[in-house]
Amino acid sequence: MQRRQFLAGAAGLIGGALAPRFALANVPTPFTFEMSPPMDSREKFIAWGLAQRGEDPKFLGERFDRFGAMVRNEDLLNDRHKHAFLLTPREKFVLQQNLGRAYDHAFLDIGFGVTISGPHIVGRMTSNIDPKEGEKVLEIGTGSGYQSAYLSHLTNKVYTIEIIKPLAERTRGIYDQLIKDGYGEFSAITSKAADGYYGWEEFAPFDKIIVTCGIDHVPPPLLQQLKAGGIMVIPVGPPGAQRVLKVVKTEGADGQMTVARSDIYGGRIVPFVPFTKLEGDQIVGTHNN
Ligand SMILES: C[S@@+](CC[C@H](N)C(=O)[O-])C[C@H]1O[C@@H](n2cnc3c(N)ncnc32)[C@H](O)[C@@H]1O
Repeated sequence: MQRRQFLAGAAGLIGGALAPRFALANVPTPFTFEMSPPMDSREKFIAWGLAQRGEDPKFLGERFDRFGAMVRNEDLLNDRHKHAFLLTPREKFVLQQNLGRAYDHAFLDIGFGVTISGPHIVGRMTSNIDPKEGEKVLEIGTGSGYQSAYLSHLTNKVYTIEIIKPLAERTRGIYDQLIKDGYGEFSAITSKAADGYYGWEEFAPFDKIIVTCGIDHVPPPLLQQLKAGGIMVIPVGPPGAQRVLKVVKTEGADGQMTVARSDIYGGRIVPFVPFTKLEGDQIVGTHNN
């Protein structure tokens, strides 16, 4: 029998109380890309998640129920993506007051005037870039940290940028505590506080890029830092009325780069928080043209 030692972890408290990071001192079984949670039964999944990951049966049950809805809605591309959703403890990334809604089909307030995207959007956007182990993925808009945590179950090279410095620091603290608790997969996440419009030259080029804030154009530096053959998903459109585009960059035989765009929601409007702009150390307006 594992020794059950519950720890309350890191908690920055600006913009609302964070959910206590209750976890086993050591997650019983460390993550590997071969990890395969049961997908055929709620009871089996809960028993597995409790034994292997030391997670709370209540949240495991809610995660499995949301999983069923996302599979029916075709938000999860294949078994790798299904595993990534089932392995990511969304409850560790929401505010205390939203714990009861962690697995709702909804975005939720995370303080600082921004939100954690709904699980269905995270699943659909991630499925469209389809990261593979070893690929470099850049996320713009770390926010709660949930999206990058999810990505770390698909690849071991995740880079994420958040413009709100205290939020970037709070989320880094959550990752660091969870890594101590035994979620070794989050060591794959490299994060910084900066304006993501300019990408992250030091680690470029990227195989995949995921943008989680809305803008009226595709930032040229991000397109430039995307590899030939790479894929970006990005909400593009006027404030509060973006369409989520999949942007595929291809190099022709003559070395010419071409870019193909498609809408991952078939034209449906999906509002995102704005892609804001840093001037010095102040956030001033947005990057919209
Ligand atoms: C929908 S929210 C967070 C979603 C996040 N991926 C998650 O899992 O919680 C979008 C985030 O983008 C951030 N953001 C906005 N403009 C940004 C910029 N220029 N550079 C980096 N992050 C930015 C916001 O501060 C916000 O935290």
